[in-house]
Amino acid sequence: PRLWLIVPAAGIGKRMKSEVPKQYLTLSNRFILDITLSRLLDNADFSGCMVPLSPQDHWWPDTEAVNDDRIQTCTGGEERADSVLSALHALQEQADENDWVLVHDAARPCVHPDDLANLIDTLSGHPVGGLLAAPVADTLKQAAEGQPAEVEATVDRSRLWRALTPQMFRFGALTRALEACLDAGHGVTDESSAMEFSGNMPVLVEGRPDNIKITVPSDLALAGFILSRL
Ligand code: CTP
Ligand code: MG
Repeated sequence: PRLWLIVPAAGIGKRMKSEVPKQYLTLSNRFILDITLSRLLDNADFSGCMVPLSPQDHWWPDTEAVNDDRIQTCTGGEERADSVLSALHALQEQADENDWVLVHDAARPCVHPDDLANLIDTLSGHPVGGLLAAPVADTLKQAAEGQPAEVEATVDRSRLWRALTPQMFRFGALTRALEACLDAGHGVTDESSAMEFSGNMPVLVEGRPDNIKITVPSDLALAGFILSRL
């Protein structure tokens, strides 16, 4: 089976509180989106790459990616899952049911080539697929009602993981799983939760905890620091 790549980049980055959507903020004069795309496309053999963009996007023509003939764009949707599904539909003619598709957040430029390779190697023979994930490091508290909330319990973190990306699934199964969730009004924040909803349990592949998603303003400098050391 071949490998396809989807990099959802249609968000507005509300929590980042900047004028420009975070995928178009820059580090060392490059767009976050360009850093993310080149770190993936230069380190695995993808048959094609689809980037869902917001209908309001007017930065894409200024990217490096616009000149890369491996990359196509489509129109994203309201939620991340809508954007990913729109990209799957846009690739449907080119991809086979059994091909793999990797979905990776535009806002995660620090993804390491070793993790990408390990994800692909580990899952290549698996029927369902899986995702990069990192064990939870902090002690977790469950809150009671009230403000300020009292602790109700300490949650056992030994089996809890943070979901990262890329997430890697079979093209046909992921398309159907996302369609089923959207039809059922079942909210999903990652591809894995859509697969879980369809009863196909993904595999956790341990990845580096520094594969951060740029979410709040302080994450930008942190990503710059991580990238300077990779
Ligand atoms: N994304 C997308 N389509 C959406 C929403 C998000 O393609 N309708 C993309 C974002 O561009 C980002 C990735 O999904 O690369 C992860 O989402 P998130 O970090 O939540 O980004 P935003 O939704 O842009 O940020 P916020 O939630 O703070 O508004
Ligand atoms: Mg969001």
